[in-house]
Amino acid sequence: MRISINKFAGRGFVSMRRCSLLVLVLASLSASCAYQPWNIETYIQNLERPERDEYQQPAKVIEALNLTPGMVVADVGAGSGYFTRRFAKAVGETGKVLAIDVEQNMLDYNKQELEKLGMANRAQFVLVKPEDSPLSPNSVDLVFLCNAYHHVEHGVGYWGKIQEALKPNGRVVIVDYYHDERSGHLSFSKHHLVPRERVIENMEKAGLHLSKEHTFLSRQYFLEFKAS
Ligand SMILES: C[S@@+](CC[C@H](N)C(=O)[O-])C[C@H]1O[C@@H](n2cnc3c(N)ncnc32)[C@H](O)[C@@H]1O
Repeated sequence: MRISINKFAGRGFVSMRRCSLLVLVLASLSASCAYQPWNIETYIQNLERPERDEYQQPAKVIEALNLTPGMVVADVGAGSGYFTRRFAKAVGETGKVLAIDVEQNMLDYNKQELEKLGMANRAQFVLVKPEDSPLSPNSVDLVFLCNAYHHVEHGVGYWGKIQEALKPNGRVVIVDYYHDERSGHLSFSKHHLVPRERVIENMEKAGLHLSKEHTFLSRQYFLEFKAS
């Protein structure tokens, strides 16, 4: 079965004309980049737009992460797979990427793109409930969240489980937009973005301390944590 962006556009939702008023109302209320089912196509296109590379610097991010073949990476809030694909390449045939998301549509698109690259065997696609971590204890080298922390921010229980999932020397890496002017123009309100300092505080409560910070991304913080 071929899955394309266009397929998502027409996926069984009532017509845009009938919904236009509702869309307008909800759009005006929307304070986050959380996707609504009728704009999955736009959401994916936004995550995958080529101009994103200019500020996201994916090659430099991957290089900074020092991944080696055989590693296990959990891409939490993996979305369309912008980083999943790059992780699959970095961990090689012997490694594994767990692409974790709350949206089946995102996982389907992510898988489709990895299949095109012949690397789908290096990934598992895991649908989760927002509050659940599917990771087993002592199972991953890197838990990575890009532009996802502000979606998945949970209490100590969630992050405690993430911490337990780390192998010895394992890391949690959080890349997310600054909550202030440094992130520049965003297509959603900054209201839900989490200040860098609060991320660090939250992680500390869950037993994770800041072990490294990369500062080459101008719009996002890039923080590495290890178990305390
Ligand atoms: C802004 S996108 C980022 C996607 C990807 N990390 C990237 O950088 O392109 C956020 C993703 O997080 C997912 N998400 C939201 N809440 C989540 C949760 N509680 N657990 C896992 N994924 C979640 C959304 O469905 C969406 O695909």
